[in-house]
Amino acid sequence: MTAHAAVCGDVAVLVPAAGMGVRLGPGGPKALRLLGGEPLLVHAVRRLALAPSVGCIVVAAPADAVPFVEEMLAPVAPVTVVAGGATRQASVAAALAVVPVEFDIVLVHDAARALTPPELVESVAEAVRGGHGAVIPVLPVVDTIKRVSDSGVVVDTVERSSLRAVQTPQGFRRDVLVKAHEAAVDEHTDDAGLAERIGVAVQTVPGAEAAMKITRPFDLAVASLLL
Ligand code: CTP
Ligand code: MG
Repeated sequence: MTAHAAVCGDVAVLVPAAGMGVRLGPGGPKALRLLGGEPLLVHAVRRLALAPSVGCIVVAAPADAVPFVEEMLAPVAPVTVVAGGATRQASVAAALAVVPVEFDIVLVHDAARALTPPELVESVAEAVRGGHGAVIPVLPVVDTIKRVSDSGVVVDTVERSSLRAVQTPQGFRRDVLVKAHEAAVDEHTDDAGLAERIGVAVQTVPGAEAAMKITRPFDLAVASLLL
């Protein structure tokens, strides 16, 4: 077996991977679905481990697959695997709870963004190190966006120039992420949303097309072409 990537940086990465992948269709939890013969989670963790900043990886796996995921990732990188929760937010909280005290910077990265380049991990980590409490990678929105009523009639066209599509990894000073999760009263689809709620300024950095989220079968087909 080849040696792991070193994984000796100052950043901990939480990898929520406990989702069921309903929108991808039947075939088991999304993080375990294959892309080019390997599970999405393997692709994601391998790329995280290649980022020099990363010193700790905690995966939140489907509760009934924890030993399986531990075994699956053992040849890829040193990781801690915990049971995820019923929501993404609960899975992130479960992973955050076991991060060793020495890590002051924590990133949260969806397993579903399996092809995220290590360079994006570095740029988010660097921005947190540079003094930002919360950092998200973003891309400009290319489609025209309209608000539509329940009956399907256009209400208005949203001004696009200030809109951004948000990716992961999202980076935080550890105390910011801990406080944001402690204060959470409702479900958010990303962690920066929780930080916004407690009044933390969220800094953006340029995202990467390859950090696309694999959500539907079409995305999996695109990802296999990118691979
Ligand atoms: N996730 C998680 N725990 C949950 C739900 C989601 O760890 N209870 C993770 C997913 O595994 C994924 C990331 O959060 O890596 C983003 O979620 P999403 O893309 O919505 O994945 P799923 O929830 O698996 O997909 P779907 O919503 O289609 O069921
Ligand atoms: Mg989901």
